[in-house]
Amino acid sequence: METPWVYVEDVAKHEGSEVTLKGWLYARRSSGKLHFLQIRDGTGTLQAVLFKGDVPEPLFAAADKLPQEASVIVRGTVRKDARSAFGYELSVKDLAVVQAAEGFPIGPKEHGVGFLMEHRHLWLRSARQHAILRIRHSIVKALRDYFDARGFTLLDAPILTPAACEGTSTLFSVPYFGETAYLTQSGQLYGEAGAMAFGKVYVFGPTFRAEKSKTRRHLTEFWMIEPEVAYLDLAGDMDLAEDMLVEVVGSVLAKHRAEIAGALERPVEPLERVKKPFPRITYSEAVARICAAGHPMEWGADIGGDEETVLANQFDRPVVVHRFPASMKAFYFKKDPEDPRLALGIDVLAPEGYGEIVGGGQREEDLAKLEAAIDAQGLPREAFGWYLDLRRWGSVPHAGFGLGVERTVAWICGLHHVRETIPFARTIERLSP
Ligand code: 4AD
Ligand code: MG
Repeated sequence: METPWVYVEDVAKHEGSEVTLKGWLYARRSSGKLHFLQIRDGTGTLQAVLFKGDVPEPLFAAADKLPQEASVIVRGTVRKDARSAFGYELSVKDLAVVQAAEGFPIGPKEHGVGFLMEHRHLWLRSARQHAILRIRHSIVKALRDYFDARGFTLLDAPILTPAACEGTSTLFSVPYFGETAYLTQSGQLYGEAGAMAFGKVYVFGPTFRAEKSKTRRHLTEFWMIEPEVAYLDLAGDMDLAEDMLVEVVGSVLAKHRAEIAGALERPVEPLERVKKPFPRITYSEAVARICAAGHPMEWGADIGGDEETVLANQFDRPVVVHRFPASMKAFYFKKDPEDPRLALGIDVLAPEGYGEIVGGGQREEDLAKLEAAIDAQGLPREAFGWYLDLRRWGSVPHAGFGLGVERTVAWICGLHHVRETIPFARTIERLSP
């Protein structure tokens, strides 16, 4: 009878029985009579032990020369083993090599990040990158679960679009049958159409910014989840962002505490403090705090990365900044009825200097005001005909926001740079692999 093929994460269910593992050799060492092979299969890494007397001599000799990343199929018995970090190991009876070549470029020695990014297609196999991308998966799932459990409908927005949404300076253009199309900067405008049809929706997909910025927080292609809710106001928008972040961080921590603290060596206490209520301060108050902390800035200027860190360091959890100068915000923001110089926007800054993770706000629902804002920013009104229709028929107050997945992963995993938060990062300097 053939032994069952099992994944490393399931071996505990097979204690004492014979199983087959299919994977790759991650590392090995030997003590003469015993060879210890670390076998990874994507779900985990298990130590497979070859005892000289248990396997044919040629196999025992060959196992001692297997190159790193050789693909192998291993048959053996699952044993409980208190000494292994995993709690189990495999006593090998047989081992077949699927493919083996010497010289895997990424060895245990230190490599520079440029080299590693150039070999990203292979770097994905290493333990740390593996942990980060599994956590990314859980973050995305927790976000989707959050909205799915609350009656939001997923609305997929197009990627090829006719116009800018977040300013014309960061647009990628694409030839489109004699016209020009643009890669979407945000699905928001389509989310607004969805909110008027379904009440509450979320758009989730890749977004693009031709950012000239070479910072640790900027990618040219990144993923954004964007809820949009009809009849929601600014305060409700802040409540939603806060509630979502508390839930998502809690669920990711429950699942990955060991990897975050272990493989990633990221302290979990700051994540445990992500509880309601988040402090909420106005832009004007933020500017005053930044200036008071010794970083002079003008009212009306963008809060840059360094200033964000100065501000975020004054709080023990994410901080919500609201009511920005309208002049620095996109055309679609509703103005504050109390002070029309202000736009009803929100930003959520992650603690510990990970920067802005959420941006959004309340939208202008009045047709004439929205048309005036489009003209004032020099945008082509024709391109927004369909969007203006939303204000012609059944317009209501509404709000939403976008959460950047990569910055959220960087924050939760404690990564200095966003390039490791996505399988294949796209930046101003990188389009490959
Ligand atoms: O603040 P942003 O530009 O907001 C919007 O695009 C709105 N239309 C969203 C909405 O209201 N539906 O971007 C939202 C978030 C930022 O807070 C940040 O997390 C992320 O998207 N982001 C980036 N992440 C990586 N690289 C970049 N170049 C990013 N630009 C924005
Ligand atoms: Mg923003």
